[in-house]
Amino acid sequence: MTVCNHSDENPFQPEAARIVRQYDLIEDHRFFQVRFLDMERAMTFTYNPGQFLMLSIPGVGEAPFSISSTPSRPGILELGIRRMGKVTEALFNKSDNDVVYIRGPYGNGFNLDQMRGKDILIVAGGLGVIPLRSILYYVLDNRDQFERLFFLYGVRTPEEMLFRTEFFQLKERHDIECLYTVDKATTEWSEDVGVVTKLFTKLPEIDPHQTNAVICGPPVMYKYVIQELLKLKLPKNQIQMTLERRMKCGLGKCGHCALDHIYTCMDGPVFTYWDTLHFRELI
Ligand SMILES: Cc1cc2nc3c(=O)[nH]c(=O)nc-3n(C[C@H](O)[C@H](O)[C@H](O)COP(=O)(O)OP(=O)(O)OC[C@H]3O[C@@H](n4cnc5c(N)ncnc54)[C@H](O)[C@@H]3O)c2cc1C
Ligand code: FES
Repeated sequence: MTVCNHSDENPFQPEAARIVRQYDLIEDHRFFQVRFLDMERAMTFTYNPGQFLMLSIPGVGEAPFSISSTPSRPGILELGIRRMGKVTEALFNKSDNDVVYIRGPYGNGFNLDQMRGKDILIVAGGLGVIPLRSILYYVLDNRDQFERLFFLYGVRTPEEMLFRTEFFQLKERHDIECLYTVDKATTEWSEDVGVVTKLFTKLPEIDPHQTNAVICGPPVMYKYVIQELLKLKLPKNQIQMTLERRMKCGLGKCGHCALDHIYTCMDGPVFTYWDTLHFRELI
């Protein structure tokens, strides 16, 4: 495979990156830290929370993955990956120091300009926390640019909670309110029990015009979370959600992700609730 250091000339040309660390989050879900071999590229590579990249393994294939790290901590890219098929299986078989190939970043990412100066409400379900972890740490690293920060995360069982240790550590901070819930508890679970929307009853008073919500989770979750946000009277364009569609090229060339004139790889993967009202197939 020919690899270039900078993807300016051929946007399909991936760049080599080394796996610097990996560990299992839960069964069949693994956390990876990767760094471009070219150190200058590693330190200058920038992206928006909510963007994704294409990761390839020579001889196996390529797949899109959300960036779970924050651009406020340059040098390392973090991914949370579920073992699904050929690319992810091959990635799970890699060792630290092995090389993979990356191109990107792609997609729009969250509208940070709209979010600055506002209260931020992050609502995650299951695996949806992977892209939201990027905006979560971005807000924490730029705390003076945002007002109150609420992080609501729901999973089916305590054993399925991703990033459990670090998210419980966040509860000790005074500049974020973290609320966690599981559908079904075991004895050692001390947080809430019930679906993620139940956590809305624990929120303090919300000023809808001062609040931006970001959502990512299983498809069924969006409808109920949006209902709660509309009850709070959040404007439809202040509800952002990140949506997955089948993607191949990631840069608007192949048409795999197209819905009408919308290319979800370029116009998304972040859409506002307002957008989805015009393109109901989006969710
Ligand atoms: C923008 C974006 C961000 C993503 N971020 C992440 C991430 O952070 N972590 C992560 O683990 N995965 C993420 N995914 C999903 C990931 O790209 C797919 O699971 C990918 O197919 C894995 O490649 P594979 O070769 O291992 O599996 P494959 O061999 O391609 O597929 C395995 C199985 O999954 C099915 N499948 C593949 N893609 C999809 C899809 N989009 N929707 C429903 N079923 C599908 C296939 O039909 C097959 O049954 C993201 C996808 C998109 C579009
Ligand atoms: S994935 Fe090819 S056009 Fe969007």
